[in-house]
Amino acid sequence: MSAITLATLNKFKAERKRFSMVTAYDASFAGAAARAGVASVLVGDSLGMVVQGGASTASVTLEDMAYHTACVARGIASCGAAAPLIVADLPLGTYYTPQEAGQNAARLMRAGANAVKLEGGAWLADTVRFLSERGVPACAHLGLTPQTADMLGGYKVQGRDEAAARRIRDDAALLEAAGARLLVLECVPDALGAAVAASLSIPVIGIGAGPATDAQVLVMHDMLGVSPGRKARFVKDYMAQAGGIEAAFRAFAEEVETGVYPAPEHCYG
Ligand code: KIV
Repeated sequence: MSAITLATLNKFKAERKRFSMVTAYDASFAGAAARAGVASVLVGDSLGMVVQGGASTASVTLEDMAYHTACVARGIASCGAAAPLIVADLPLGTYYTPQEAGQNAARLMRAGANAVKLEGGAWLADTVRFLSERGVPACAHLGLTPQTADMLGGYKVQGRDEAAARRIRDDAALLEAAGARLLVLECVPDALGAAVAASLSIPVIGIGAGPATDAQVLVMHDMLGVSPGRKARFVKDYMAQAGGIEAAFRAFAEEVETGVYPAPEHCYG
């Protein structure tokens, strides 16, 4: 069984075949996601909230990310299914300069990541270029960027007015030109999600970015119905209908591939 690579995801985009990504933080759940046919696993710094119990992602360290990335990579290597692409988050404060990003990205790649994710716009172009020139695939992250949510007025939909939407479109183009290989686009109106996905040649992975992005990502604890409290609009509980973890991952992957998810009630219009 062949592993999912960046080339596979590019081919999916070229063929307009939607694909799924879920977060995972340990070997067991990563293996279940792989066996369920999920194309990519994100070792997200959301682990600060869903695993460590913090109020934000700010507490997550590079050591935490390396540890969880290694757990996920081992789970995927031994799961007996085609390996999903592993993307690992560079945590807050670990990529303020290209050199720092390079050192820290190398740590996550050594732990088993296939790409690293960084949150931010134009200011990251030099860093993305630096990584790309050194063979480290970068996944950009625009829209609602949880590491800097306080600067954005909290966990809110981004890009609602024309100036903000243009900034996101421009940043996306700049980061692709700098060498970004993937883009996560979080919490934006459907039309903006569609415009960004149509204007880039790299795969755009949406979370609350409407049905027209090339892929969809959800935080594992949200889609398994484990996260307590009020849920974001884009969250769908797959555990309720599937009744088992691997079946829930499979239902999510299939609903993304067939365009059933996200439905209008999961979108920001
Ligand atoms: O850390 C994370 O889980 C993420 C997703 C919300 C995309 O960045």
